[in-house]
Amino acid sequence: MTTFAIPRTVHHGKNSLKELENLEGNKAIIVTDEGTMSKLGFVDKVRKHLKNAGLEVKVFEGVEPDPSVKTVKEGKDIMLDFGPDWIIALGGGSPMDGAKVMWSFYEHPDLKFEDIIEVNSMPKLRNKARFVAIPSTSGTASEITAFAVITDREKKIKYPLVSGEIIPDIAIVDPEIPSTMPKHITANTGMDVLTHAVEAYISTAATDYTDALALKAIDSVFEYLPTAYENGDDLAAREKMHDASTMAGMAFSNASLGIVHSLAHKIGGELHFTHGLSNAILLPYVIEFNYEAAEDKLQKIQDTLGIGCLAEEVHKLNNKVGIPDNFQAIADKFDVTDEMFEDALSRMPENSHKDPCTLTNPNEPTVEDMKVLYEKAYYGK
Ligand SMILES: [Fe+2]
Repeated sequence: MTTFAIPRTVHHGKNSLKELENLEGNKAIIVTDEGTMSKLGFVDKVRKHLKNAGLEVKVFEGVEPDPSVKTVKEGKDIMLDFGPDWIIALGGGSPMDGAKVMWSFYEHPDLKFEDIIEVNSMPKLRNKARFVAIPSTSGTASEITAFAVITDREKKIKYPLVSGEIIPDIAIVDPEIPSTMPKHITANTGMDVLTHAVEAYISTAATDYTDALALKAIDSVFEYLPTAYENGDDLAAREKMHDASTMAGMAFSNASLGIVHSLAHKIGGELHFTHGLSNAILLPYVIEFNYEAAEDKLQKIQDTLGIGCLAEEVHKLNNKVGIPDNFQAIADKFDVTDEMFEDALSRMPENSHKDPCTLTNPNEPTVEDMKVLYEKAYYGK
């Protein structure tokens, strides 16, 4: 038995934000980032649509990147005081993740993080409110997924929460919002989408349902990312990328990922290379590592795209969107030296091997394999 779970409704395409006017209820709280969405006018737009739906609206602004336990508690207290029946998460992965967990604690104020760490241990939600997610980047796909990551900065612990309960009820995938993303974010998040789709497609937990979505997302990224990168105002390309992100999210939320993500999580934690960028650089090396174990599927991708070697084409796509072939080429920008990399290399192979994403990688790696992959991706071949 396998379950495929996604939001009940996905509104997508131009002007889909207006669908907020069809929400029925009394009160809505908008949960958003530290000011970007507000500055770009999207908080006002969302507020206006919610008011037109006859809802009383409150805004919680201030979810930081890698949302903290502290912010989640603040949001929970405001929700308990205000009593919303809709929670509207607006922004990138962080505000959406933060809002999902605020919602959980709003529904169950006595809950502790320790109670919900185990997969699917979250008690039933939707006794008080339902959840709308509006992504501003085409990348994390938190609007679709059963995942949220919260960081306890005092205890230095990350809580990766997984539960079907926190899959949003409604996702609104409106291309106008990501059209404001700067070039490098478009590139990094776009390559994150490609990584989600490729890893989900060759995952050992892939199904026909996830395959269809993943393959379409791969096709869209190759076709539309260069245009979205070169011309951010091209709304047609933005729409294709935004939809590809959501479809890749549907695939990986159900099929999980692979060791590109395992390796990226740890090199991000140690040396602060950003997530999408790390995935972009690692992806071609991992495709080569997985080639034999996932040959049929990788061949299918190559046939669909009408290309030769996928790993080679990913290198080329990276270069088209300003991403180099190895970490060393961007190390300066991140204040990373070769010595720092070598020091981290004494920990990262083992830690990445333990990452949950390693479990569904088609070619089962050893710790030594992880080390070799880090070396290849850092120094280039
Ligand atoms: Fe990712």
